Amino acid sequence: MPTYSHYAFDAYGTLFDVHSAASKFAGEIGPNWERLSQVWRAKHLEYTWIWAGTGRHTTFWKLAGDSLDFAVAAVGGIPPGVRDKLMAAYRTLDAYPEVAGVLEQLKARGAKLAILTNGDPDMIADAVNSAKLGGVFDTLITVHEAGVFKPHRPVYDLVSKHFGVPLDKVSFQSSNRWDVTAGKVAGMRGVWVNRTDAPAEYPDTPPDLVVCDLAPLVAEA
Ligand code: LAC
Repeated sequence: MPTYSHYAFDAYGTLFDVHSAASKFAGEIGPNWERLSQVWRAKHLEYTWIWAGTGRHTTFWKLAGDSLDFAVAAVGGIPPGVRDKLMAAYRTLDAYPEVAGVLEQLKARGAKLAILTNGDPDMIADAVNSAKLGGVFDTLITVHEAGVFKPHRPVYDLVSKHFGVPLDKVSFQSSNRWDVTAGKVAGMRGVWVNRTDAPAEYPDTPPDLVVCDLAPLVAEA
């Protein structure tokens, strides 16, 4: 049995590479493709915070489209037809290379595994299936059930409900540093998957563990 019996994973940026969509069409987008992808991601998250902070809710898919439109305008436009290709690619993002192996090893050792994501149920089903991760998760938890986006507390409490254990029995992994803080405040172990070697932040809620990918989760077992 690994150190923790229950693991919850953020999806976008943690399991799935959000920049893999724009990178597939880099040739069509042109030299600004990385900037477009960074602005798209940053605005997508900002929109979730503003919707939640103003007491409203919508789909992650709608906000993916709204934020892409902003990013396209910010880089001065993209060729006709590429927007649809980018949106389609966002439904079938690449998983990071170590993800499947790590999840399978944790599962083989008896751990229960979940996704906890802002993604809509149909989006996350598409992502999991296209990455061939369908059999590995015990439960796919989406904010849809809480009716509010991260980082609002009811989202994180869903993990305890789904797993049937207190949150202090759960290890929560996210590449989004703010998400790690929210998971920790709710009571989970917070593992920051710092894939981009980003500087430390949120000093009042330091991560319990910092890793550059998911592989060390197996080694700590
Ligand atoms: C998610 C976003 C935060 O998957 O990446 O919830």
